[in-house]
Amino acid sequence: MTRRPGDAEAPRATVSAEHFLGLYLAKDDPWDNATKWDDQRKYAVAVASLPRERYRRCYEPGCSIGELTRLLAPRCDEVLAVDCVDAAVDQAREAVRDLANVRVERAMLPAELPDATFDLIVVGDLLYYLSAEDLDRLLDGLVARLEPDGDIVAVHFRDRRHGGNYDGFNVHAALAERPGLERRVRHEDEWFVLDVLRRLP
Ligand SMILES: C[S@@+](CC[C@H](N)C(=O)[O-])C[C@H]1O[C@@H](n2cnc3c(N)ncnc32)[C@H](O)[C@@H]1O
Repeated sequence: MTRRPGDAEAPRATVSAEHFLGLYLAKDDPWDNATKWDDQRKYAVAVASLPRERYRRCYEPGCSIGELTRLLAPRCDEVLAVDCVDAAVDQAREAVRDLANVRVERAMLPAELPDATFDLIVVGDLLYYLSAEDLDRLLDGLVARLEPDGDIVAVHFRDRRHGGNYDGFNVHAALAERPGLERRVRHEDEWFVLDVLRRLP
C-alpha cells in the first residue's frame, strides 16, 4: 500500500501519556532520535530553516529526550520544552544541563498549555497523536501564544508505507489553514515534511 498525502486520519482518542510512558519504560530513546541519521538530519534541517538568526522565547512541545532542544538553545534567549512523560523530561533536563537558558517541564497537551507567549514555537512529531478535537484545541492554543511576527515550525514524519496515522500532511494542512499565518518555508522529502509559518503582524 502506498499512501498519498492526506490519507492518514486522526486517531479517535488522543494517544495517552500512559502509552508513551510504556515506550520510555521499554527503551530510553523509543524512536532512536539520538542515533538515527534520518532524525538527526531532520533536526539539522529544522534548525537551518529558522528564518531568523535569533529568537527571544521558544516553546517546544513534545520535546522527548531533548535532541532538538539542544540545537534550538543557541538560537534563542530562552527555551521552554515540555513532554507528557517524566522519563522524557528527566532525560531532556540531563541533555540541557549545561544550558542555563532552557527549562524542561512535564505537560500534557492540549490541557496544559503555558501561560505565556513566544516568538518561536517548534512542534515535531507530536500533532498526529492527537484526536481531531484535541488537535484543533492545540493548534488554536499554539497560534494564540505565537506573537505577531513570530514563527511556528511544524516538522513531522511521513509514513508512506504503513496504514497507521503517522503522516504529517494532514496535521500540517490543519495548521496552515489557521487564519493569520503565512508560509515562509516548505520542505518535503522521503522522511519528513516541514513548514515554517509566520504570524502576520
Ligand atoms: C515521537 S516523539 C517526538 C520527539 C521530537 N519532538 C521529534 O520531533 O523528534 C513525541 C513526544 O511527544 C510526547 N507527547 C505525545 N503526546 C503528547 C501530548 N499530548 N502532550 C505532551 N507531550 C506529548 C511523547 O511523550 C514523546 O516524547
